[in-house]
Amino acid sequence: MSDIKTNGGPEPSSAIGQSMRAIVFDDYGDASVLHPAERPVPKPDSDEVLIAVRASSVNPVDYRLRSGEMKGLLPGGFPRIPGYDVAGTVVQCPQGSGLTAGDSVMAFLDSLRGGALAEYAACGVSAVAKIPPEMSYEQAAAIPLAGSTALQSLRDHGRMQSGQRVLVNGASGGVGMFAVQIAKAYGCHVDAVASGENEAFCRELGADHFYDYLQTDFAKSDERWNIVFDAAGKSGYLDVREVLLEGGRYVSTEPDVKGMLMTVLTWPLSKSGTIMLAKSKAEDLEELIRLFVEKKLAVTIDSVYDFEDAAEAHRRVETGVDRGKVVIRVA
Ligand SMILES: NC(=O)c1ccc[n+]([C@@H]2O[C@H](COP(=O)([O-])OP(=O)(O)OC[C@H]3O[C@@H](n4cnc5c(N)ncnc54)[C@H](OP(=O)(O)O)[C@@H]3O)[C@@H](O)[C@H]2O)c1
Repeated sequence: MSDIKTNGGPEPSSAIGQSMRAIVFDDYGDASVLHPAERPVPKPDSDEVLIAVRASSVNPVDYRLRSGEMKGLLPGGFPRIPGYDVAGTVVQCPQGSGLTAGDSVMAFLDSLRGGALAEYAACGVSAVAKIPPEMSYEQAAAIPLAGSTALQSLRDHGRMQSGQRVLVNGASGGVGMFAVQIAKAYGCHVDAVASGENEAFCRELGADHFYDYLQTDFAKSDERWNIVFDAAGKSGYLDVREVLLEGGRYVSTEPDVKGMLMTVLTWPLSKSGTIMLAKSKAEDLEELIRLFVEKKLAVTIDSVYDFEDAAEAHRRVETGVDRGKVVIRVA
């Protein structure tokens, strides 16, 4: 795989036409509903940045939205351009934003509708961070949504402190691989849970101990943790309550109604549970970039697809990646 280097140079906004290539879907369905189409280039508001997209990545939310599974939670309406992760170059930006046309950036799109799988994407300044020369567009595209989810889950919802014991369930996936590395970078002891074939990978990420979920149920272990982060969204608060230390926190990524009720009901308890929803924040992207530059956060890419093969990329994530992130080259 040859990385796309972050030396794209400025693209004059005057050179941009009215329409762009995008991947769209016109109705909910399986991955075959995704197809290339011409769409209008987004017109950024005065406080927004227009980005020429070089790469994006696929998150489970993309196929869950595309299939209609999450239509009760997120806005509908067609045609729709999937994707929240963007790496590319700034075409247009507000004065005083700290950005300049031609800057290489990553963005976690702040529109609930997404829009990353297109030649251009627009978002607020507060969703964008500059990337360093040593980070490729493919690496940058893999970070925003999954990395922000991991960081916010551990630091904000889990209130992670150095020296604590953290368990990451789903440690080999897009969110989990960032979570293991972030918890280690913040000085925690980390136990990782994934399938046995990913043990070596989880240990390379820095995990101190490993559980194969097909062999051992960590929730029945004699071990105790300050934070159980269910990156995979496969457990429930009541399953893991016993293995939380006093004052411990359970954080899950699965935004179902049962979990939301659990968040409210366990809030006053000494062992609380939270369902998190990732937020787009430039300062969190900057923190993830800092960890990358300090070589505390590596980005593992499972596979890279061409723009026209976006449906294949969705299928890859839907049927289970081996490890890490699935990236799509846009330009
Ligand atoms: N709430 C939010 O804001 C938010 C944000 C991001 C993601 N999410 C959700 O978080 C989940 C994970 O996302 P992702 O990008 O990390 O997905 P992913 O890349 O597909 O990774 C899934 C992970 O789950 C593991 N896994 C599968 N079955 C498991 C089981 N029974 N027990 C424990 N682990 C198991 C996999 O391990 P093996 O591959 O080794 O089997 C892998 O590590 C998705 O459901 C996604 O929708 C929510």
